[in-house]
Amino acid sequence: MRIAPSILSCDFSRLAEEIRAVEAGGADWIHVDVMDGHFVPNISIGPVITQAARRSTDLPLDVHLMIEGPDRYLEAFVEAGAHVLTVHREACPHLHRTLERIRELGARPGVAINPATPVESVREVIPLLDVLLVMSVDPGFGGQRYIAASTDKLRRARRLLDDLGSRAELEVDGGVGPENAAEVRGAGASVLVAGSAVYGHRGGPAEGVRALRRAGTG
Ligand code: DX5
Ligand code: ZN
Repeated sequence: MRIAPSILSCDFSRLAEEIRAVEAGGADWIHVDVMDGHFVPNISIGPVITQAARRSTDLPLDVHLMIEGPDRYLEAFVEAGAHVLTVHREACPHLHRTLERIRELGARPGVAINPATPVESVREVIPLLDVLLVMSVDPGFGGQRYIAASTDKLRRARRLLDDLGSRAELEVDGGVGPENAAEVRGAGASVLVAGSAVYGHRGGPAEGVRALRRAGTG
C-alpha cells in the first residue's frame, strides 16, 4: 500500500518542512493537486510550486491535473518534476494521444475519473496506464466527505484492471482517512491519497501518515 499525502492541505508558507514531515512519517508519493478554476471551481498549484516541491524531496511527485485542455501543460509539469502525471477522463477528448504523450515525455501516465464517470469509460486505455485514479469526492477542495458508493466502484475498477492483466496502481482520492482506509484497501486500492487526514491530524502530519498506514494495513 502506498500513501500519497496531498500538499493541498499543507501550510504553504512552510512547504519544504511540510513535505519533509510526511516523508518522515513514511509517505511514498507526494500528491500535487493542480486546479485551474475551470475544470474545478478552485485554483491551486502550478508548475512553479510543483518545482519547489520537487526541490524539497526525493519522493516521487504524483501530479493530479484538474485542468481543462491538459495537453498544453504536460511538458511543463514533466519538466517541473512530475513522476506520475494524471489527467481527467472528462477533460480529454483524445485520451489515447494524451496518455501516449505523457509517456513519451518520460512520466508515468494516469487517468482520473470523477464520481459520476463510469469505470467502463476508461477500459480502452487501460493498457496505457500506470495509474487509475478513482475520485471519491467531486474534485476541487480538500476536506470533503467520502462518497460511500466509491467503495463498490473501486471493486469494479480492481476487477477491470485484473481482467485486463493490468499492473496499474489503483489510486483513491477524496475523503480518505483512518476511518475508511481498510475499506478502500479491501476494495483493491493500492495508493491512498489523503490531504486533511494527514495535514489536519492532531499529532501532526508524520503521525497522520502513520495512522493511515496502521488503519490500512491493520
Ligand atoms: C480533491 C483533490 C484531493 C484532495 C484530497 O479535489 O484532488 O487530492 O486534496 O483532500 P482530502 O483528503 O482532504 O479529501
Ligand atoms: Zn488529488
